[in-house]
Amino acid sequence: MPSEFQNSLLSDLESGLRRLESRSQRRSLQRVAGVNLCSNDYLGLSQREELRAAILSAVRGAEYVGGTGSRLLSGHFAEWEKLEHEFAAFAGTETSLYFGSGYAANVGLLSSLLSKGDVVFSDELNHASIIDGIRLSGARKEIYRHRDLSALESALKAHVGERCRRIIVTESVFSMDGDVADVSALVALAERFGASVIVDEAHATAVHGPHGRGIVAACGLEKRVLAALHTCGKALASAGAFVCGSAVLKEHLVNHARTFIFSTAMPPYFAAQIGAALRFACGMDFERRELLDGARKFAHSLREEGWDVSAGDSQIIPCIVGQNDEALAAAEFLQGEGFAVRAIRPPTVPEGKARLRFSLTSLTGANDLTRLCDALGAWRASKEAHAAAVRP
Ligand SMILES: Cc1ncc(COP(=O)(O)O)c(C=O)c1O
Repeated sequence: MPSEFQNSLLSDLESGLRRLESRSQRRSLQRVAGVNLCSNDYLGLSQREELRAAILSAVRGAEYVGGTGSRLLSGHFAEWEKLEHEFAAFAGTETSLYFGSGYAANVGLLSSLLSKGDVVFSDELNHASIIDGIRLSGARKEIYRHRDLSALESALKAHVGERCRRIIVTESVFSMDGDVADVSALVALAERFGASVIVDEAHATAVHGPHGRGIVAACGLEKRVLAALHTCGKALASAGAFVCGSAVLKEHLVNHARTFIFSTAMPPYFAAQIGAALRFACGMDFERRELLDGARKFAHSLREEGWDVSAGDSQIIPCIVGQNDEALAAAEFLQGEGFAVRAIRPPTVPEGKARLRFSLTSLTGANDLTRLCDALGAWRASKEAHAAAVRP
């Protein structure tokens, strides 16, 4: 029998969930069927037979199929070291270090680099893993308006001359808005005001830049940023993330990043999965071009139809509808029309900016996008008809 205390705690939790429900923010785990517009498998690699074959062969040949311990104990297999070299060559940096997830990488990186008294300059739309890493570090925060370089410049000026670490952190392709940070301008500002830059390339990895090497590489800034973070769970159809940077940064992380130190290594065969995916992805320039061209055309059609679509130039296209219940109703309508679409609500996005987030992959068909545009029009028409019917 649970104790009285525990029953009361569980009943508190239930009230919390009901409060979320009343704001249309209660989430549940559900698979959605239909044309998939909520996947980050941007190159469709998770269904590629050659990748499956490479994984099976690695599993068969593996001496150990478990991680066995953290990398500092028994989990430091040669496969990981080799892959970190390969990944650094891809990112154009001296070294890289693999973490079991992008979340762990951001938290470990930021919390080990910054401490109380340091200042971090963070774009207001940065991912939760960046926010949590900053919180854990205890550093002072300057949250600047999304991609607003003059706001950032003012914040940097306010801390000139302080004896502390100053780090600017940004996503390159923003996960919920699909727009792209001006990384060159950020690095220029950082160099003017004595700061360093960290770039989270999660949604750019294998999709943007030369051979998918990301926005930092597209700008030729591989050696001038402090770190670029590339994730493997999206276009690379695997899991985990690499923090790419200098040898001294890697050594610092091995010694101080708690999410690295106190976590079991991934099994060595998994390195073969990431390595194979990386090699396939590098050779997919045609697919990348088609994906980004298709996304541009789709965003243009939505804008023509009057939808509030961000000014981004990526495979992620948000369609901002405003209120949570509107976004939920639209997603439900589109699901009924055969589209796997999710409503994205606060706290993932700011209040009043609930949206449908369409993420396109190289498997998304042009016909599906035309049908989707029509279905959105049908949803708007049905909403307007309903509003007219209930108007006094
Ligand atoms: C910008 C960004 N950074 C980091 C992460 C975390 O990566 P992972 O899913 O590998 O934990 C995500 C995941 O959605 C992301 O969008």
